[in-house]
Amino acid sequence: MFQGKWRLWKLSISILVFLTAYNIYLTVRLMYSSTCVQTSPDSVLEASLKIEPPECAHNQNFPVTNTNNAPKPLLTSKSNKTLETLTNIYRNLQLNQQYSLNLNLGLGRSDNKLAYKLFDNIIVGERYIELTEAYKTSLAAQSSLDKIASLIESSLYWGGPISLAVFAGTEKELNHLLLYILYLRKCNTRIKEKVSFHLAIPKEKGPKTYVIDEERLEKMDCGNPMGVLHGLLKELTKRGIHAWKYKIPYPQNLLRNLARKNCHTKFLFLTDVDIIPSRGMAEHLNAFLESEKCDGKCAYVVPTYELDERVLFPPNKTDLIRMANKGLARPFHHKVFIYNQYATNFSRWQNYTDPDDKVRISHPVTNFEFLYEPFYIATDSVPPHDERFIGYGYTRNSQVYEMYVAGYEFFVLSPIFTCHWGLQVKKSRPPWREHQNNQNRKQFDHFKKEIFARYNKDPLNMMAGKT
Ligand SMILES: *[C@@H]1O[C@H](CO)[C@@H](O)[C@H](O)[C@H]1NC(C)=O
Ligand SMILES: *[C@@H]1O[C@H](CO)[C@@H](O)[C@H](O)[C@H]1NC(C)=O
Ligand SMILES: *[C@@H]1O[C@H](CO)[C@@H](O)[C@H](O)[C@H]1NC(C)=O
Ligand SMILES: *[C@@H]1O[C@H](CO)[C@@H](O)[C@H](O)[C@H]1NC(C)=O
Repeated sequence: MFQGKWRLWKLSISILVFLTAYNIYLTVRLMYSSTCVQTSPDSVLEASLKIEPPECAHNQNFPVTNTNNAPKPLLTSKSNKTLETLTNIYRNLQLNQQYSLNLNLGLGRSDNKLAYKLFDNIIVGERYIELTEAYKTSLAAQSSLDKIASLIESSLYWGGPISLAVFAGTEKELNHLLLYILYLRKCNTRIKEKVSFHLAIPKEKGPKTYVIDEERLEKMDCGNPMGVLHGLLKELTKRGIHAWKYKIPYPQNLLRNLARKNCHTKFLFLTDVDIIPSRGMAEHLNAFLESEKCDGKCAYVVPTYELDERVLFPPNKTDLIRMANKGLARPFHHKVFIYNQYATNFSRWQNYTDPDDKVRISHPVTNFEFLYEPFYIATDSVPPHDERFIGYGYTRNSQVYEMYVAGYEFFVLSPIFTCHWGLQVKKSRPPWREHQNNQNRKQFDHFKKEIFARYNKDPLNMMAGKT
């Protein structure tokens, strides 16, 4: 028994040593050869496809690219394709080593509607697996390039693992997004350790290749994350940010599901990337969820406030309430769209006296209403986010509505909370957002009928009226 294991162990070590040596050999050969590199060692495959070695990669300064700058020989289209794939695999090996990036756009998996391609774990946080074992709750969120800098702050207070799904509609956007993610990892240890990234791109018209501009990455200033981001965004949105948003709608719910499905703790806390958790939340949740025995369908709501940009993030609930009393903090979307969080009952939460800083249930949600969309902690067995809602409108509240119809109960936790920067005021929606909202309202009419058919219940009397 022991001998068998020992032999297996020796064999694995030998294979590992061989693979490493072979990889070093290939790398060295690629860097120094002035003759062409044989991409595939499989001569049988090559013979059958009549692949000739590609044109030479320009040795020393070999660019780290995907396919675009790859050598492009004059061959039959079929072998062209195969060659590109093989070259890709090789490039990816290099990228992988250098940046822990695991992305081959020729692979990925499709969503259910075959509209997008999804890539799990393109970058894994160095301590992601370890944290998944140590914590009961993962933070799951989604982001496009313009919001991703919020990660610097959300990862500051959240000690557990973070699963972040990102979206890139075009090749240029993907290049900038990857560049910024690598920059965040270069400059920020917390992000490097805690965050695992997943990517979605449009399947048909999405990016086919990507390039990492290493020289630029070297030069990006760790002291100025917002400046660096604005520089990248400016190049992307030459025709304005609205034109950019309008062109390729952002698939929020697809991304939420992608982030959710890559969490492996028992519970998850699904937020948006710019929702900042209060200090020590993940640790306190460990203790609470250990003792909490829910024998039904439970979701634990964490109240969300919006903060005046001039204040510092409140260290605790007492301080948050002090700010709220001065008008420097208020329930999220209180002025923009009150139903959003109203059923959480903030006055009751603020009124609840916490005996210590342990997490407890302050009260249950008693007045659930349609369009309520709290951020909550639950197991991933809650209904998925319906992916027909693309862009803005009916994305989270449709899922929360289904939870309610399915019989979930909502309990508000204290003294933990989350905050969003900026006191939001009602402004007219930009046209692209209005358009998406109208589209999704039509989708919701179908959705609610399906929910009724699925559960045969209509607790909010939705089938009678229009939404
Ligand atoms: C192979 O690819 C190159 C570069 O993309 C292209 O110029 C050439 O026409 C392709 N050959 C065939 C037969 O498709
Ligand atoms: C909350 O934070 C404030 C400011 O740091 C501090 O003075 C206060 O003691 C804290 N309260 C609790 C209950 O921890
Ligand atoms: C606040 O708490 C007090 C004492 O526990 C209670 O009498 C009062 O009704 C509460 N108010 C709200 C709005 O919950
Ligand atoms: C909030 O709770 C208080 C009791 O503490 C209750 O009187 C009030 O109606 C509740 N408001 C909402 C919106 O649920």
